[in-house]
Amino acid sequence: LFAGRCDFVKGVVAMDGLPAADRMEICFAGRSNVGKSSLINALTGRKALARASNTPGRTQEINFFDLSGALWLVDLPGYGYAEAPVEVVARWQALLKTYLAGRATLRRAYVLIDARHGVKPVDHEIMTLLDGAAVSFQAVLTKSDKIGAAALAKVVERVGEDLKRHPTAFPALIATSSETGAGIPTLRAAVARLLAE
Ligand code: GTP
Ligand code: MG
Repeated sequence: LFAGRCDFVKGVVAMDGLPAADRMEICFAGRSNVGKSSLINALTGRKALARASNTPGRTQEINFFDLSGALWLVDLPGYGYAEAPVEVVARWQALLKTYLAGRATLRRAYVLIDARHGVKPVDHEIMTLLDGAAVSFQAVLTKSDKIGAAALAKVVERVGEDLKRHPTAFPALIATSSETGAGIPTLRAAVARLLAE
């Protein structure tokens, strides 16, 4: 699946711009700067398919990538703090929430959590929204290269506890690094399994 092509198709700024809901879709959500775009690049083995940057608020549209004609990979704008004008941020936050709760073909949301920071209140807010919309989601730790093994084990346990508050959370947690490639094969396998189900 991930050995095939992956192409950017469109960036969407309103619900009526969404591509046809004709196939399975998965999306990557998380706080600004958590590493969503970098993770899409790591998963697809492409350096700059999704634009990543050190500035929080880099991704400002809902970006659709066609993975091998089989599914939509969706890179979302971050939530929480972003370096962009307030009214602009408010607009994409509203779109983000409408998308997450209202996209019929959204098979699973991957909710990215920075391994150094754990689950923040704004993450709980998004997870609660997904619970309410009955959208299955899985938590993915990012930037695992930035902490040691013992600290990582601790955060995995703590986030696992946090997830118990959310009925639509998939119980398993995947720790990843887009930098070293840790956990990337596991995440690819998880996505491939969704398609096979
Ligand atoms: P927004 O689009 O602004 O919401 O951000 P994003 O979640 O898409 O984050 P992005 O992928 O742009 O990455 C933000 C910064 O974190 C960039 O400087 C990346 O190089 C860095 N980064 C992302 N993933 C990793 C990782 O696994 N390890 C390390 N060390 N840095 C990472
Ligand atoms: Mg981004």
